[in-house]
Amino acid sequence: MTAAYERLKNCYGSIQDKVSVRPKVALVLGSGLGDYADGIRIVSTLDYHEINGFPVSTVSGHKGRFVFGYVEDVPVVIMQGRVHYYEGYSMEDVVLPIRLMKMMGAEILFLTNAAGGVNYNFHPGDFMMITDQISDFVPSPLIGPNIEELGERFPDMSHIYDPELCQLLREVSRDLGIALQEGTYLQLTGPNFESPHEVKMCRILGADAVGMSTACEAVAANHMKMRICGISCISNLGCGMAEQPLSHSEVKETADQVAPRFKKLITEAIVRMA
Ligand code: HPA
Repeated sequence: MTAAYERLKNCYGSIQDKVSVRPKVALVLGSGLGDYADGIRIVSTLDYHEINGFPVSTVSGHKGRFVFGYVEDVPVVIMQGRVHYYEGYSMEDVVLPIRLMKMMGAEILFLTNAAGGVNYNFHPGDFMMITDQISDFVPSPLIGPNIEELGERFPDMSHIYDPELCQLLREVSRDLGIALQEGTYLQLTGPNFESPHEVKMCRILGADAVGMSTACEAVAANHMKMRICGISCISNLGCGMAEQPLSHSEVKETADQVAPRFKKLITEAIVRMA
């Protein structure tokens, strides 16, 4: 057994009694979107700092707890706050919560984030369904001895984002009348925002949105054969595409404004995943 798997098992063992529902869907809430968890039927919560050996986020606006409960009748575990590579954690740390949620029983991973739009057709406040990703600017979370118990050494990444879940999201967006852009998400390390030429680079590479999370989580989840879907909230346009300089407060402000629409979209999508 690899050290990473042993750590994961110990971590899971230490919280097993506190996992109050067997989740079907694991939902990760991005910057400014964390309030969603407060509105579901909560059964219990578990602060990250109560979990032995668990990485705890330091970013303001990120709460840092698992919420167990139900979205209508669908059992879920929600990560209210994630950990980021730019905080100084190893990739093994960053994806540990994702691996734990799979051990709790989650089959579907629903990823959300705030991201910068690099596609000129996007506007702040848009939602973008992630159809593919570019993760090569951060180390793969699968580097190191393969954790055979989780997945294979060389996992296929043809469909990281499950085509059926993508179709479900399209239908939900149509039925609710909530516009949904589609595109490729590119992960950079951060924590600095991009320079104008880095934004241009992202566009040339085929990205539509850029952010500092998510893609590594999707790689780890795809390794475990979870079904994945993701939505970026386009909180701002990439640096150089708009007049004013970027700030984290702008990211949070946009996320706050779109929160009600976001909530509807997420809820209906999860209900239809049952
Ligand atoms: N760049 C990177 N990450 C982000 C951005 C951005 O413009 N907005 C929100 N997260």
